[in-house]
Amino acid sequence: MSTIPREEIFITTKVWNSEQGYEKTLSAIKQSLNKLQTGYVDLYLIHWPVSNLRNDTWKALEKIYKEGQARSIGVSNFTIQHLKELLGTTEITPVLNQFELSPFLYQKDLIDYCQNKSIVVEAYSGLTKGRKFKNSVLQEIGEKHNKNPAHILIRWGLQHNFVQIPKSGKKKHLAENIDVFNFTLDGADMKLLDNLNEDFRMIDDPHKMK
Ligand SMILES: NC(=O)c1ccc[n+]([C@@H]2O[C@H](COP(=O)([O-])OP(=O)(O)OC[C@H]3O[C@@H](n4cnc5c(N)ncnc54)[C@H](OP(=O)(O)O)[C@@H]3O)[C@@H](O)[C@H]2O)c1
Repeated sequence: MSTIPREEIFITTKVWNSEQGYEKTLSAIKQSLNKLQTGYVDLYLIHWPVSNLRNDTWKALEKIYKEGQARSIGVSNFTIQHLKELLGTTEITPVLNQFELSPFLYQKDLIDYCQNKSIVVEAYSGLTKGRKFKNSVLQEIGEKHNKNPAHILIRWGLQHNFVQIPKSGKKKHLAENIDVFNFTLDGADMKLLDNLNEDFRMIDDPHKMK
């Protein structure tokens, strides 16, 4: 059992695709709260924009938010089309959209759309699961600032105002990944990184979800 007070921990969880729909989502949040042994989560997301179910799922999230089981509600893997459809029917705008995002998958239109609607952009797989760590531009910018490729990727996202959720199962990497507040990428670095886009995806493309 953790001794850290609940209010000092930010918990995000999602409604899984097989649990989508109004009634099923209302049951899913109860199960999550039971498993987490908490009365509320800080952020509850729709995992994927499942066809025919996503709008009813969102209605359930609005109820969950109003009843205080989630302090905020958002979506994940929503494209501009999915967001436009949702915003046409919602009472509450999603606070955040979590999607795959790195310099190698720089989804500028989606970012602009979200930021214009005040929807926070949260980047997943922002470290490219380590697959692009050997990229020469990342290496050179890293050497210039005496930082590693993970630092450069995290910092790039922070300077674009994205929430970064780098994942690691290693204490050393967790400690390393927070060490990004003592340097700044300059305009030239940011430009080089912005130009690395090659639509590099590791996870399914949500544009295929109608
Ligand atoms: N919404 C969605 O559909 C969705 C999809 C995918 C992922 N996500 C979420 O996004 C978050 C992160 O994404 P991700 O796991 O796909 O990828 P990621 O953060 O891009 O990469 C994680 C990998 O990078 C390694 N790593 C981390 N820090 C490192 C460092 N300083 N040096 C070297 N290697 C390092 C980790 O290995 P070690 O463990 O060895 O450090 C791990 O293999 C997770 O919370 C995940 O749940 C969401």
